[in-house]
Amino acid sequence: MSNKVITIERFIIEEERAHPGASGDFSGLLRDLTLAFKIIWREVSKAGLVNILGMAGTENIHGDQVKKLDVFADEKIYQAMDHGGYLCVMASEENEDVLQIPEKYPTGKYVLLYDPLDGSSNIDVNVNIGSIFSIYRRVTPKGQGTLEDCLQPGYKQVGAGYALYGSSTMLVYTTGDGVHGFTFDPSIGEFLLSHENIKMPKRGKIYSVNEGNYRYWFDGVKKYVKYLQEEDEATNRPYSGRYIGSMVADIHRTLMYGGIFMYPGDTKHPNGKLRLMYECNPVSFIIEQASGKASNGEKRILDIKPESLHQRVPIFAGSEEDVTIAEEFVQGKRGLD
Ligand code: AHG
Ligand code: MN
Ligand code: MN
Repeated sequence: MSNKVITIERFIIEEERAHPGASGDFSGLLRDLTLAFKIIWREVSKAGLVNILGMAGTENIHGDQVKKLDVFADEKIYQAMDHGGYLCVMASEENEDVLQIPEKYPTGKYVLLYDPLDGSSNIDVNVNIGSIFSIYRRVTPKGQGTLEDCLQPGYKQVGAGYALYGSSTMLVYTTGDGVHGFTFDPSIGEFLLSHENIKMPKRGKIYSVNEGNYRYWFDGVKKYVKYLQEEDEATNRPYSGRYIGSMVADIHRTLMYGGIFMYPGDTKHPNGKLRLMYECNPVSFIIEQASGKASNGEKRILDIKPESLHQRVPIFAGSEEDVTIAEEFVQGKRGLD
């Protein structure tokens, strides 16, 4: 085993060097993002100590309660990314409209979409939360970017990842060349390569869904979950249930152990809860790059043509075989024996 210590910065630079013609902008962009995650980590890890917890007293544009840490994370990512000259526009789950780059700074060729703090209902109870990001190349020619630059289908992403603030803090990302994980070493303030080229099992034995919504699920989802709970040695059923309620943490476990994470549409919320641009697209890119699959039940998430910045989509993501079976149930091609 090699005892080489590889920082995320070194890894990104070496990855970029392997692609002749790369300008270095992408590594600069990821470096700036890493700084934002360190700052958020610092705040998250002292959240129990300072009076930053509790509701900010406002609702975000989705009608969710905004906690102070969401606002903090939102601002820190914007501030870390507004001046590097790499981006032409940003959009965040916490803001209704696109976020422009200040006039005094240069604009660049990339577009950043982010969920600054995912799993906010878990902040107060010391349960894993995270930040999710998604990067596209701009489609408008120059100057300030527009909504058009942001509304691209997920398969056009050139990078995506998340920071997970937990028992240890991790950064997991892909640029379309596999998925790599880095663990934060607070003593030196660096993310160090800990999980190179993550691949998920073809089939898992864990399912992850908010079963409290059972009453509202469509028939296919009800049957699929019942199927997972049946006993069958050959397919390792019944599966175990695990649901943290922070998508980023549930996805991270799914990435490491396999199985399926889902937030289906239901009779109350036909498109589910999770947002295409800030949550579903980036995690789908990562899951696919780790040999998994991500679907809305009918088609690949990454092929969905976005219509609005904050649109929601149902999601079934995880091990390839598990997601394929889920699709069959959702589409009514399969039922219980
Ligand atoms: P956010 O904190 O960014 O608003 O996202 C919360 C999301 C996601 O993290 C999680 O998977 C889901 O909400 C949980 O929703 P339920 O409480 O409905 O299960
Ligand atoms: Mn979220
Ligand atoms: Mn959020």
